Amino acid sequence: MKKSCFVLFAALLLSACTKQHLPVANYDIIPQPNIQLEEGKPFELGPKTIILYEEGLQREAQFLSEYVNDIMAITLPVQEYKGQSDGIVLRIEPDCFDHAEAYEINIATNQIFIKGADAAGVFYGIQTLRKSLPIETNSDKVNLTCGKVSGAPQFAYRGMHLDPCRHFIPLDSVKVYIDMMAMHNMNQFHFHLSEDQGWRIEIKKYPELTEIGAYRSGTVIGHNGNLYDTIRHGGFYTQDELRDLIRYAAERHINIIPEIDLPGHMQAALACYPQMGCTGGPYEVWKRWGVSDDVLCAGNEEAMQFAENVLNEVIDLFPSPYIHIGGDECPKVRWEKCPKCQAKIKELGIKGDERFSKEDYLQSYVMNRMAKVVEARGRRVIGWDEILDGNVSETAIIMSWRGTEGGIEAARKGHDVIMTPLSHLYFDYYQSEDIANEPMCIGGYLPVERVFEFQPLPAELTPEQEKHIIGVQANIWTEYIAHFWHVQYMALPRMEALTEIQWNNPQERDFEAFVERCRKMRQFYDLYHYTYADHIFNPQVWADTVEPNLATRKPISLRQQPAEKYTFEGAVTLNDGNLGRGAYNSGRWLGFWGYPMDAVIDLEQPTEISRVRFHALVNKSPWIYNPSCVQVLVSDDGEIFREIAQKEFPISTWAEKDGIFVFEVEFEPVTSQFVEVIVKGHDLPEDHEGFGNPAWIFIDEIEVY
Ligand code: ACM
Ligand code: ZN
Repeated sequence: MKKSCFVLFAALLLSACTKQHLPVANYDIIPQPNIQLEEGKPFELGPKTIILYEEGLQREAQFLSEYVNDIMAITLPVQEYKGQSDGIVLRIEPDCFDHAEAYEINIATNQIFIKGADAAGVFYGIQTLRKSLPIETNSDKVNLTCGKVSGAPQFAYRGMHLDPCRHFIPLDSVKVYIDMMAMHNMNQFHFHLSEDQGWRIEIKKYPELTEIGAYRSGTVIGHNGNLYDTIRHGGFYTQDELRDLIRYAAERHINIIPEIDLPGHMQAALACYPQMGCTGGPYEVWKRWGVSDDVLCAGNEEAMQFAENVLNEVIDLFPSPYIHIGGDECPKVRWEKCPKCQAKIKELGIKGDERFSKEDYLQSYVMNRMAKVVEARGRRVIGWDEILDGNVSETAIIMSWRGTEGGIEAARKGHDVIMTPLSHLYFDYYQSEDIANEPMCIGGYLPVERVFEFQPLPAELTPEQEKHIIGVQANIWTEYIAHFWHVQYMALPRMEALTEIQWNNPQERDFEAFVERCRKMRQFYDLYHYTYADHIFNPQVWADTVEPNLATRKPISLRQQPAEKYTFEGAVTLNDGNLGRGAYNSGRWLGFWGYPMDAVIDLEQPTEISRVRFHALVNKSPWIYNPSCVQVLVSDDGEIFREIAQKEFPISTWAEKDGIFVFEVEFEPVTSQFVEVIVKGHDLPEDHEGFGNPAWIFIDEIEVY
């Protein structure tokens, strides 16, 4: 055989082989669509496939072509649909659907129809097709099994929030965030644009807001200790940049909701216009985390008009049907002492009652006044759930963040509600208990499983009230997130669980199957160089039992119960043999605040003992410190105890790591039946923001030898 013939033969053989083994698309993606497969020769997507669009869908067609190119390195041409018999056709067919944004993909041997209730529906059909394509196969052809794949969102509002104020996030990174949202079929981007620590949106009427208010001269190091860096930090978005961003998001069927957080979280604005604060300043763009006491002076007409003018300019810029006016965490300490605020309270005839103070009602006056500005422009107001404290107008949409309770109360009162409780949807919390090996964050513990379990429709609501729950959102605050890779790490893969809830809200939830579907998404993250957490793929193996000892599973009682939120199974947690892990709210730690842990263990018979150990968690930011001392007492009858040992422990400093620590006290052997272990806490030190309060202690396994 001549060499050229051999090459030809080999090439034919190779092409025959690859034809037989074309990779196959898998429609089990996130969020899970409905899938009905059919018999028939599959549709072969390859270099010859054409994307055909009907009116209004040209950009969607280009997106599909770009996605296929990202995955398969082929460029599919995009053409207008004129009845061609082969190709992928994009079509809006509102009559086929009873849900806005719904889609259906019909796959046949020669043709795929991606139909949507509207252009957004077609876009989500494209996302589903995109996510079902196999990745990393090096094949330029893929088989798509015939059948029907469809989906419709459970919630019309499917949000992600981002805080570019605590740490500035460059515009290009925000665009990547929007790409991530698009990939997860989300449609509302809540952009938190003003804060104590930085003002981020250009306002033409008040240029100092960005000239001065967008920059701070340093930042506290770690969790509000007494050390600061001296690095100027900041940045802002010009109105032109924001217009570009709005366009970018709109192409991806994402609306941007701007938030101007007022009347609290305003210290950066006060640094520019000190006359608008109650004390007159001076103020600086804040260098610490937390909630500043310095807020807009509600009794100052100039401050109120300032807020109205800012909102009007924001409304000019953003076409969003919703405008977020904040309302969270507004301390009232300045208003209580401010002559102007008190005069305003008098002028308005405001009185406090058993539920709310007169200053709470003063905040309602501010919120209602701002709501009028927004509504006069034909938009709807969103506020954090604190705005329920008082008499906010029923037209305001409530963002329930402190739990679901605010959302329940709001829905009962007739408000529309967006559920974003910190218990399930604060993606700035840790997603692993192994916090020593995580990038530092604000605290808490919120693994993917917990997001996946969230039920946005509380059982307490009637079907009529339930209709007020219009959406679900997760939030990313950036006090401890200084880089965009870290934003991505916090978002992914928790966004997978969120989109599953937003689209499907399943009653029966199969986490294992969900994790399998997540595996595929991971390849997309790699493809687009997104940073993500991989705990669900590599579950942590913990050494989480203690050596059986004299105390293990013996009768145990506590002289005073733990804090209600951190009682869980109660005293038995302390000697069940299972160790607590890194998260204080996991159910394995008992938490005590302001009084000692005082446990009595009945060894059931006189027993010689010479050593007591216990474990305590240190997580300084949320006020959890190591114990200050341990006392060991013994008794023969369980009535009269005598102290046999005591040991003190110096308070942990910011320079020391948080984590789980073992405390041990040894003593001369003694024979006794009852052992009492008393563990006391420290007071919070001067360099902690909670100075003046006791620290929490979180205790787990007590061991006796
Ligand atoms: C919030 O987390 N302060 C809304
Ligand atoms: Zn005031």
